[in-house]
Amino acid sequence: MAEATGNQESKDYGIGIPVDNPVYKLKGSNNYDWGMKDRLSRVFNPKSGRTVMLAFDHGYIMGPTSGLERIDITISPLLEYADCLMCTRGVLRACIPPTYNKAISLRCSAGSTVLTELNDECVGVEIEDAIRLNTSMMAVMVAIGSKFEALTVRNLCKMIETGNRYGIPTLGVTAVGKELTRDARYLGLATRVLAENGAQVIKTYFCEEKFEQVTAGCPVPIVIAGGKKLPELDALKMAYKAVDQGALGVDMGRNIFQAENPVAMIQAVKAVVHDGEKPDKAFKLYNDIKSDRKSKDKSADLPQGNI
Ligand code: 5RP
Repeated sequence: MAEATGNQESKDYGIGIPVDNPVYKLKGSNNYDWGMKDRLSRVFNPKSGRTVMLAFDHGYIMGPTSGLERIDITISPLLEYADCLMCTRGVLRACIPPTYNKAISLRCSAGSTVLTELNDECVGVEIEDAIRLNTSMMAVMVAIGSKFEALTVRNLCKMIETGNRYGIPTLGVTAVGKELTRDARYLGLATRVLAENGAQVIKTYFCEEKFEQVTAGCPVPIVIAGGKKLPELDALKMAYKAVDQGALGVDMGRNIFQAENPVAMIQAVKAVVHDGEKPDKAFKLYNDIKSDRKSKDKSADLPQGNI
């Protein structure tokens, strides 16, 4: 307990120095409460204002997706390079050591798989479990324009209500069904609907034309999913164009963990997103890290010690 007597007299009140009242710079986020901002600052690097989220939640609809058969082997070496891990609670508890101290974007919607009709989902994770897992963001799939539109918007609103109660942001994920076109008109509508309903961050897809209209029309941060595996240089070009046109990062899965060298790829993506590196330079970085790792692997095969 503090002593009542004998304390140094307080004298440095900084009289005349105005109190700094910094604006919270993340797009659309200045009016949130402290806890919400703290969690968003774990997802979006406060220096660059951007994020590299590593998505490996695919198993919840696709089972053991190529590259995710053994998360302990393939994903563990990537964790240190990501700002935020996007995964299910099952994989988080079973495969991710709680020592990485990374932001978690927890997949909280659940439902149909690729074996039936996608997007018939509910909110599958209670807020208490999200809190137990120290979640920084809760992800809900929303299928605008599909027959599950109203159902999935209801899921989103439910998650936002509970998230707001506890200061946890909700990531609205725009699902794209086979029947929907991924153009700026559709993506602009879908992302705006999710933001209007209160999602603090939106994940969507990049489109080649008018993507800057999608980001401009969305009042909160957009991150892009990578989608199906592309050649590495093309994936880096996509990430570059997306952030150049207003996305605040990537939530990328297959284009990282299915790359020929995933550890090199996540570092190249990071260079694009956080340092604004041009795709060609980032691809060179990818190749340099790849060959460096190859020669290290080879030297590990040589006999060790004095020879
Ligand atoms: C899976 C998802 C993924 O998180 C999302 O699609 C990002 O991964 P990818 O870059 O592989 O598309 O929502 O259900």
